[in-house]
Amino acid sequence: MAYLRWRRFVELASLDRPWLGELFMRKRDQPIVAAPVETWDREYREGVYDRLARSEQRHHHRLLAAVIADRWPNPRVLEIGAGEGVLFEALRAHAPARYVGVDFSAPAIELGLTRLAAERATGVVDLVLGDGRAFRTDETFDVVVFSECVEHLGEIEPLIAHYAPNLKPGGGVGLTMWLALKPLRLWHCLKALGEVLDEAVINTPWGGGWLVAVVRPASTPGV
Ligand SMILES: C[S@@+](CC[C@H](N)C(=O)[O-])C[C@H]1O[C@@H](n2cnc3c(N)ncnc32)[C@H](O)[C@@H]1O
Repeated sequence: MAYLRWRRFVELASLDRPWLGELFMRKRDQPIVAAPVETWDREYREGVYDRLARSEQRHHHRLLAAVIADRWPNPRVLEIGAGEGVLFEALRAHAPARYVGVDFSAPAIELGLTRLAAERATGVVDLVLGDGRAFRTDETFDVVVFSECVEHLGEIEPLIAHYAPNLKPGGGVGLTMWLALKPLRLWHCLKALGEVLDEAVINTPWGGGWLVAVVRPASTPGV
């Protein structure tokens, strides 16, 4: 318990002090290794992520949805690495005008198509099978969200540049991320790309934490 508290203290302190995170980071020279699609497919089939739909696992989704809707009422949201679209459960209360979820795991998309069948029928929701590093659409959105997945999508700069054409003028990038030192490097990169509109940390009773943030990239059209 004392170790967990110490770790949380270091993670929180390193939010604004990247050097501190680097100091205490284990295996700092090794990159984050993205899991292959086969691993995600198997885990979705085995129901590993069913727990993500539980209420106590979705505080970060609810906060991000509220923060987005506060700034962009009836938001249009593109979620990359959307899994089965559980984030939409939090967005629903804010009457989003559009939600497109993209994931490269076919079983995740199948689960999402069932979960969000009613909203798909109305044309508000779409769930698409695709690689989040290369997905393309002509649609534009208020926010492009990376929730619990940005560490699987490679370098931040090219990723944000890739989705910049899909942002409406003044649009933003939404992020949720499990608080840990190595992924925080990605947050520091994202922060450096524009203006931080919102940044918060949700601490869980069992000792973990989520970073929830919205950034307006300087490359957004109209900025
Ligand atoms: C921990 S889950 C998060 C799901 C959802 N965003 C949420 O917050 O509940 C991470 C998701 O990222 C997806 N993912 C990982 N790499 C991806 C890639 N290259 N392209 C698209 N999706 C990817 C996985 O299939 C998985 O559904």
